[in-house]
Formats: sequence, structure tokens, C-alpha cells
Amino acid sequence: MRKDVVRQGRLSGTRSAAITRYLSSMEADRSIARADLLVDIAHVLMLDTQKINKRAVTKPIVATLLGYYDDGIPDEIFDEQYEDVHAGIESLLIESIGAEAGGRMHVGRSRNDEVATCIRIRIREDLLAQMAALLKVRATLLAIADKHIESAMPGFTHLQHAQPTTLAHHLLAYEQAFSRDFDRLQSAYTRVNLSPLGAAAFASTGYPIDRNLTAHLLGFDGLVTNTMDAVATRDFALETLADLSIMMANTSRLCEELVLWSSAFVRFVTLDDAVCSTSSIMPQKKNPDVAELMRAKSGAVFGAFGGAFVTVKGLPMSYNRDLQDLTPHLWRGVQDAHESIVILAEMLDGATFDTERMAEEAGKGNSTATELADSLVRTYGLPFRTAHNIVGRAVQKGNLSLATLEAAAQEVDTKISLKKLGLTNDEIDRMLDVQYSLSLRTAPGGPAPAATKKSIAQRKKQLNADSAGTKKIQAALNLAEKILITSARRLVA
Ligand code: ARG
Repeated sequence: MRKDVVRQGRLSGTRSAAITRYLSSMEADRSIARADLLVDIAHVLMLDTQKINKRAVTKPIVATLLGYYDDGIPDEIFDEQYEDVHAGIESLLIESIGAEAGGRMHVGRSRNDEVATCIRIRIREDLLAQMAALLKVRATLLAIADKHIESAMPGFTHLQHAQPTTLAHHLLAYEQAFSRDFDRLQSAYTRVNLSPLGAAAFASTGYPIDRNLTAHLLGFDGLVTNTMDAVATRDFALETLADLSIMMANTSRLCEELVLWSSAFVRFVTLDDAVCSTSSIMPQKKNPDVAELMRAKSGAVFGAFGGAFVTVKGLPMSYNRDLQDLTPHLWRGVQDAHESIVILAEMLDGATFDTERMAEEAGKGNSTATELADSLVRTYGLPFRTAHNIVGRAVQKGNLSLATLEAAAQEVDTKISLKKLGLTNDEIDRMLDVQYSLSLRTAPGGPAPAATKKSIAQRKKQLNADSAGTKKIQAALNLAEKILITSARRLVA
């Protein structure tokens, strides 16, 4: 059996395989193994610069770590015999180059600051990947909206036909929501990308370490300054999961609409076969399974947030082993959310919208009654509440015609005669027309074609700016890693 270098001093006796496995975070640590290598390399370079370790010690350590970086981390490091990947890497390093050099890698740090640093490195990559996926969803929504600026459809409140809108307007609502999700993740990134390294167990260290140097080498934008906070906090993980939960709530609402719209009694959309399943008994079935699963995943991501949240609630300062159990929630939530958003873009891209069916429904349920009331206000100077009352009563009488409207007006106020004011059936038809109703809604963000065109132009501009910002962050991270590895290679050359 291999030796866990961390456990060898203080503890004696043997433990059951069950306890060993229970203690180990190795399975979840696969997510941070690559990050841990970078952290090890940066830490060792800093120890060298600060003359805490001699060059003769630095060289074999860095050479071994670069070997893992280039050829892949040896599988034996992931043995659950080790408490975690940090102990695994250090143990194998000492086994291969000896304790004289290998035993000097961990000087001036603790696994507490090490793991917090690794998690932050991994999440910042996940956040960037998530932001890129969201950009794709937003671009897809904008592309579809662009084609449907004039495609009328019913808008709903309480899931009842309410007022006509357009498919573009409806999809732009989701684009706006996903844009806020993007902003939240971008904001979370600024608090994620700070370095806890050098905090050691929590009280920092007496060695003359350079925290800013390791932060810089690892591409962080600054430090989590207070060393106790640096190892104790996981609020950056909670924030990420909370933001992903909100994003998944938005996703779930869109999926619910796709499920509803693809039903035979709505038929607004046909989803691509690729995102549908059939039945093992009913040969005719085409079910929107991907949209349904995505709706469910919002619950899974929120569950991950809940699990992480209750793990930290009530923990005293500073590091507690409970924190180890938070990370699997994080990776699960991040993965479910990411897969969902990547597939969402594909699902939207493959969807075919039935604009004829939408147009057929757009004017149903007296959906233009609001415009009729507004037109009575505009044309004849009635108070809005009076017009609202008259039109409501006419609907109750069965339809919106000159006869019912006149009768309703007389009920409301015998002095009001819409006929005498000049209302005709032709005029009513004009006021109830779906396109007429849409054309008037020119306020910013409204469904009138002119307003929609403006909205799309604005949203595309924002999308391009967001995309450029993300690319800049990614380039800075790539550059930092390149410089770190180049410096390491130069040192061993
Ligand atoms: N595997 C641990 C975690 O994920 C690393 C830190 C261990 N620290 C300790 N004091 N036991 O949190």
C-alpha cells in the first residue's frame, strides 16, 4: 500500500477501507487536479525567487511537476488511499525524487489555502465556459427574433390570451433574461478570481513568501487579503451556484414553453427529432424529452446550491473539513448547468416555428380589446375607465360589435352614444386588427416592428461587447499559464 505523507507522523494504527474512502475527496478532486499542478508550480517558483528553497531543490520538483503537466497526471495519484489530490501529488513526488527535495514543496502553505486556490482556478474556467455558452444561446435567440419581427402571436397572462405580440418580442424577453444571467456570472468572476494562496492554514506563515507573486503567476486579479477569510470562505462558490440557479430558472421557463408549444393543441413549434424521444408502446409519439429534462435540471442545480449552502451555514472560522463536502455540489451544479445551456442553444437552433398557427391564435379571446378601449379614449375622448367598462360589458354580451358596444355604453352612462359619436362596424374592425394593435406599441422594448428592430440592434451591440470582454479575460488567463509554464521550463533547462 502507498504511503500518504501527510498522515505518517501524528497518527498510528490502521483504518478500514470504508473510513479511508469516507475521508478522501479524491473522486471530486479530479476536477481540480490540473489546477493543483499549476498551484504547485507557482508556489515552488515563488519559494525559489524568495530564496526559501535552493535552486537545487526547486529544479527536481519543477521538472517532476512539468512531467505531470506534459504527460498527464499519473493514475496512482488518484488512489483513494490519499486523503486528496494534494496529498497524492506530494506523496508521489517524494516517492520519485526523495524527501530531501520533494519534502520541501509544501513549505509555507497548507492544504487549506491550496484547495481554496484550486477551486477558484477551476471555477473561473467553468464560469468562462458558461458565459460562452450563454453568448451562444443569446446569439441564437437574436437570430430567430431577427426573422420574426412581424410574426404575430398571442401574448399571455395567466396563460390566457391577453394581447397580441410577436415571436421576436417573446424571444427577446428571454434574451434579456439570459443577458442578466451573463452579467451575474461576469460579476461573480471578479470575486472568484482572487488568490487565497499564502494564507496557509489560516494564519499565513513566518517564511518570507510573496503572495502577490503567486497570485500574478496564476492569473489572479488580486488577493483574498485576510488569511483567515481566504481559507474559510466559500461564498464565491455559493454565489456561483446561486447565479446558475437563477439562470436555470430562466431556462426552465423557456423549456416549459417549448413543451407547451410543441403540444398538438398549441402547435407553435416543432422541435428537431434529435431533442425528442418516442414511446415504447405508442408508436406515434414524439416527446420533447430534452426540454423536460432541462426543466428538471433547474431543480438539480438549485439542489446543488441548497446542499452547498447548508454545508457552510453555522461553520465556525476558519477551515473545517465540512468544506470538503461542499465541492462535489459545486461541480455537479456547474456541470448540469453547463450541459443544459450548451444543449439549449442547439435545441433552439433546430426548432421550427409555425407562424401561421401563431397568427391564427394572435387575435383570439378578444385579445385586441385593450386596443379597442384605448381607441375609444383616443378617438372620442372617453375616460379610460369608462371605455374599459364599456368594452368589458360588450365582451360579456358575446362579441365586440356596434350593437353590443352601444348597449354597453348605455348601461354605463345613458348620455354616452357611441353611434352618435360616429363609431361604425368598419371602425371597430380597424380598431380590433392585430397588426394595428402591434403597430401602435412603439414604446422602447415594445412589440411594434420599429421598436423591435431597435431592440435587436441594441441587443446585438451588447452581445458583441460581452463576447469581446469574455475573450479578453480568457486571453489573459491563457497568457498567465503560458508565462508560468515557460518560466518553469526555463528554470529546469
Ligand atoms: N481535501 C480537502 C478539501 O477539499 C483539502 C483540505 C484539507 N485540509 C485539512 N485541514 N484536512 O477541503
